[in-house]
Amino acid sequence: MKILIFGGTGLLGTDIYEILKTENQVRVLSSADCNIIKLENPYNKIKIERPDIAINCAAITDVDKCEKEEDNAYKVNAIGVKNIAIACRDFGVKLIHISTDYVFDGEKREPYTEFDKPNPVNIYGKTKLAGEEFVKSILNNYIIIRTAWIFGKRRKHFVDYVINGIKNNEEIIAVKDMVSSPSYSVDVAEQIKNIVNSHESGIFHIANKGYCSRVELVEEIMRILKKTANVRIVNQSQWERPARRPYFSALKNYHLSLLGIDNMPGWRDALKRYIRAKTEK
Ligand SMILES: NC(=O)c1ccc[n+]([C@@H]2O[C@H](COP(=O)([O-])OP(=O)(O)OC[C@H]3O[C@@H](n4cnc5c(N)ncnc54)[C@H](OP(=O)(O)O)[C@@H]3O)[C@@H](O)[C@H]2O)c1
Repeated sequence: MKILIFGGTGLLGTDIYEILKTENQVRVLSSADCNIIKLENPYNKIKIERPDIAINCAAITDVDKCEKEEDNAYKVNAIGVKNIAIACRDFGVKLIHISTDYVFDGEKREPYTEFDKPNPVNIYGKTKLAGEEFVKSILNNYIIIRTAWIFGKRRKHFVDYVINGIKNNEEIIAVKDMVSSPSYSVDVAEQIKNIVNSHESGIFHIANKGYCSRVELVEEIMRILKKTANVRIVNQSQWERPARRPYFSALKNYHLSLLGIDNMPGWRDALKRYIRAKTEK
């Protein structure tokens, strides 16, 4: 199959590329290759490349930056998605669009399914939900994938912040009222491969199984590394950030499990594999 990945140079896009390229003809686009905020850019790429499937990993993912630069966040996470969806519609391309656990408000206290109603609490979540709405209203042939708290090799993230803090004996700030499903980009990409090879459609949650707070995540990293660290435990109210985070945004891969195709391992197992791969380098 011919696959075109928008935002293919990011944390998740890189592993999707690595995993799909063995059996498909895959082309990756960075923001410099194709800035999605202008319709003609993704439109021309799709017109020229004529992929069977487009995957959209392009987004502004810095939650605090979205809060401070609302227009830019809407341009990329909502209008950019609309632009890709229009191009996919006009050239008959199936779109796999990546979204987030942050579309939920975090008040549920048990993992969110695809049948729960989104209600974002910050600009990032609002822009991502607007992107989902464009996909649903413009296309018939689409898959929206929501994932959460990704760690992987492409760029730094919370897990790396903790590993570096332990290594350099620096204070680590861990928020206790932020809970979600830490997810390994490689596992998410593997599950996406199964979806790509299916005729499925609709919204899918794809996260490693289980959930934890940021404090429990730090504790698990220390346990795997057999090291202790200087951890400062705070509430969101004591952790001054431009954007509020949902308190509990863990995801349940309910759609996958209803179809009997939920192959996602638990988050502890995923974390161990990531740390092993990183420290064996
Ligand atoms: N990271 C997480 O914890 C997490 C959690 C839940 C959901 N998600 C979702 O998963 C998807 C992938 O996230 P990620 O963490 O892999 O992203 P990332 O590492 O931040 O990478 C973002 C990608 O988007 C591209 N991009 C940014 N602005 C663009 C623009 N105007 N036009 C075209 N491309 C643009 C970047 O290109 P350059 O390389 O050129 O900058 C990069 O390839 C996103 O939809 C995100 O909302 C992520």
